[in-house]
Amino acid sequence: MPPYAFFHKQFVPLSEAKIGVLTHALHYGTACFEGIRGNWDSKQKRFCLFRIRDHYERMLGGCRILKIKLPYSVDKLCQLTAALLERSGYKEDVYIRPLAYKSSEAVGVRLHNLDDDFLIVMTTLPPYLDAENGVRCCTSSWRRVDDTMIPPRGKICGIYVNSALAKTEAWENGFDEAILLTQDGHVSEGSGENIFLVLGGRLITPPSSDNILMGITRDTVMKLAKNELRIDTIERQVDRSELYVAEECFFTGTAANLAPILEIDHRPIGSGKIGKVTAKLQKLFAEVMVGRNSRYPEWYYLVSPKAVRHSVVIKRESPRDLPAKP
Ligand SMILES: Cc1ncc(COP(=O)(O)O)c(C=O)c1O
Repeated sequence: MPPYAFFHKQFVPLSEAKIGVLTHALHYGTACFEGIRGNWDSKQKRFCLFRIRDHYERMLGGCRILKIKLPYSVDKLCQLTAALLERSGYKEDVYIRPLAYKSSEAVGVRLHNLDDDFLIVMTTLPPYLDAENGVRCCTSSWRRVDDTMIPPRGKICGIYVNSALAKTEAWENGFDEAILLTQDGHVSEGSGENIFLVLGGRLITPPSSDNILMGITRDTVMKLAKNELRIDTIERQVDRSELYVAEECFFTGTAANLAPILEIDHRPIGSGKIGKVTAKLQKLFAEVMVGRNSRYPEWYYLVSPKAVRHSVVIKRESPRDLPAKP
C-alpha cells in the first residue's frame, strides 16, 4: 500500500503531493508544523495518537502568529489525521507531520495577501537520539532566537535554521546534540528538545520566557513527575554552569522521547550514567505514550485500523465524508 498524504483537501498517494518551486513558504520559511507520534500498540492492535489535540492547538497558535487561516477545527484536524493513518496501512510507530503554509507562488517577503494551505504527511522515524544509552552534548556557539525575532512558541519553519546550525555544529564536533543559550546566556533548550535538570531531588526546567518551545513532552513529564513520583518541577532561569553540577539531566521531545544526557561540554553529569529519576520517568513515559495508563485518557486518541481497507487508490475524497472520532 503506498503511503498517502492529505494535500489540497484530498487524500492522494504521497508521490502525487507536490508543491510548486515558487511556493512562498519554501523561500521564506512562512509555515508552521507539528510532530505528532502515532504509537502502535501491537497487543491492542491500535495506534495511540499521543496528545494530538495539544499538538493541533499549538499549531493553530503558530498559524495565528503567521496569519495563516485554516478552515479546520482541532476536532477536524484529528479526524483527518486518523483517516490518513488508517488509509496508509502502517502497523508500526509513525511520526506525523502536519504543515500549515503560505502557499501562494509569489515572490516578496510578507505575511499578508497570500493564500494559505495545509497538508499532512507521515513516516516511520528511526530513533532520533539514543534514549536507551544516553547522549553527549555541547553548549552551542549559536544563541536561541528570541521572541522579538521569530516567536519560538510556534513551530515556525524559518526558526529551524537556528536549530539546524546548532545541531550540525554539535555533530561536526563529535556530539549528539546541542544546547542553546539565550542572548543573555541562560539555558534555553536543545535543537529539537526541552531540557530538564535534577537538582536537590527536584526537577528544574527553563521557563517559557527563555525562548523555549512549550513542549508537550515537557508538560507530560512535569505531570508524571508530580502525580506519579511526587516530584515538583520548578520553571526558572538556569545558568549554564548549573548543567555541570546537576545530579541528572535529560531532554524531552516528541522525536527524542525522554533522552538522558550523560555528558555536557566534556563534563560527566552526575555519575555519568543514567540517573534514577530519569530512569523512572523514562519508564512512566514509555507506558503513557502507547496509551496504557488509564489515568490520562485525555492524552490518548486511539485509532484501531480495520483489517482490510483501501485496496484501491482512494483520491478526491471530501474531508466532509471522513469518519467520526473513534
Ligand atoms: C525546538 C524544540 N524544542 C522542544 C521540542 C519538544 O516539543 P514536544 O515535546 O512538543 O515535541 C521540539 C520538538 O517539537 C522542538 O522542535
